[in-house]
Amino acid sequence: MKILKILLVTTILMIVMLQMETGCYYDSKEKLYSSTFCDTTNVSYTRTIGNILNLKCTMCHGVSNPSAGISLTSYNLVKAAALNGSLLGTTNEIGGFKLMPPDNKLDNCSLKQIDKWIRLGMPQ
Ligand code: HEC
Repeated sequence: MKILKILLVTTILMIVMLQMETGCYYDSKEKLYSSTFCDTTNVSYTRTIGNILNLKCTMCHGVSNPSAGISLTSYNLVKAAALNGSLLGTTNEIGGFKLMPPDNKLDNCSLKQIDKWIRLGMPQ
């Protein structure tokens, strides 16, 4: 009887440990914090801002025939838009700018990262 109990307890313990093992294996920062985690440390054009704009803006503001004649495909071009206020203006729909992307505001984390990038002096 006692040996059966011990066996049962060890089996349960092993199952629990196995689940913890696989749980850890699949854990990633993005999955754990997907809805709340926003990395605003070390924001740079190469690491952060370029990726956001390539995903959300350059299909219209690309290299050839860009919307409003504004291309957002390189560090210098995006920096210029940041300096003249149109990057923050459009993405936050402030200062009389039209919302960009049109009818599809960026997620809060991207907006925070753009804001932080500008306040850091637009690191490349
Ligand atoms: C679906 C196409 C499309 C997407 C996606 C898009 N834009 Fe635009 N953008 C336009 C068009 C069209 C205009 C011209 C709007 C007008 O003047 O009526 C424009 C204008 C602009 C302007 C000039 C605003 C001004 O008044 O000087 C800026 C800056 C800009 N977009 C930035 C962005 C940024 C940043 C993104 C991504 C976060 C973005 N756009 C995504 C189509 C787009």
